[in-house]
Amino acid sequence: MNATLAVMHARHSIREFESELVPMDTIRQLVEAAGRAPSSKNTQPWKLFLVQGAALEALRTDYLAAFDTGLPAKAGYRYSPDPLPEAWKARAKEVGVGIFKHKGIGRDDTEKRWAHDRENFRFFGAPQVMFLGTQASAYSHGTFLDCGFVLDNLMLGLTALGYGSCPQFSPMIYSDLLKKHLPDSADTLFISALPFGRAKSHSHVNTFHPTRLPIEAWFKVVE
Ligand SMILES: Cc1cc2nc3c(=O)[nH]c(=O)nc-3n(C[C@H](O)[C@H](O)[C@H](O)COP(=O)(O)O)c2cc1C
Repeated sequence: MNATLAVMHARHSIREFESELVPMDTIRQLVEAAGRAPSSKNTQPWKLFLVQGAALEALRTDYLAAFDTGLPAKAGYRYSPDPLPEAWKARAKEVGVGIFKHKGIGRDDTEKRWAHDRENFRFFGAPQVMFLGTQASAYSHGTFLDCGFVLDNLMLGLTALGYGSCPQFSPMIYSDLLKKHLPDSADTLFISALPFGRAKSHSHVNTFHPTRLPIEAWFKVVE
């Protein structure tokens, strides 16, 4: 298979990491490459923060405290339509049930379900996390598309380099914490977190591979 297509097939969400850091020069090369993403009129409306070391531990501590005390959710944007179209809802349910089943968590095991959700606010223990955002005072639907290209470039680049990542909306519900911890972010609308690093070896959760629709369900040839 073509190497780029093989990387697209290989990428999947990683939810358990080794503590090893991705070297800074590798990260710079990755970010340079991700920044080659196209954007409308080359506006390049993205902002990217890399958080690691003591700064990440301080952020993680605040996130866990927010989750543990039930801080009300306040995301900067609504990710999905509400309600979801029925077909989307069915697929969302399938992946939600699927990951619990994969982890051996029963329907009524509220404690383990809570612990599973809490992992999101630990950034799955990743040693490095990127936060992608855009300008809060001026953005529109297309801005999210442009930023999404960067996010995908980062994820695919990490896969190509032998690392893993997990895009995350969940931490966006406490984006005020990001504003508190990340310098010059007052006018940032945070879009996604991206914990990344070396995938934990022999990790069970990392072997979870949600299926995809056959392309006939969403791809039409018109000629
Ligand atoms: C923008 C975005 C936000 C996501 N947020 C979360 C999240 O908060 N927590 C999580 O565990 N997975 C999250 N995911 C991962 C999806 O569940 C995952 O991509 C999907 O189930 C397909 O699985 P795969 O990435 O392993 O192929 C998110 C994915 C995207 C694209």
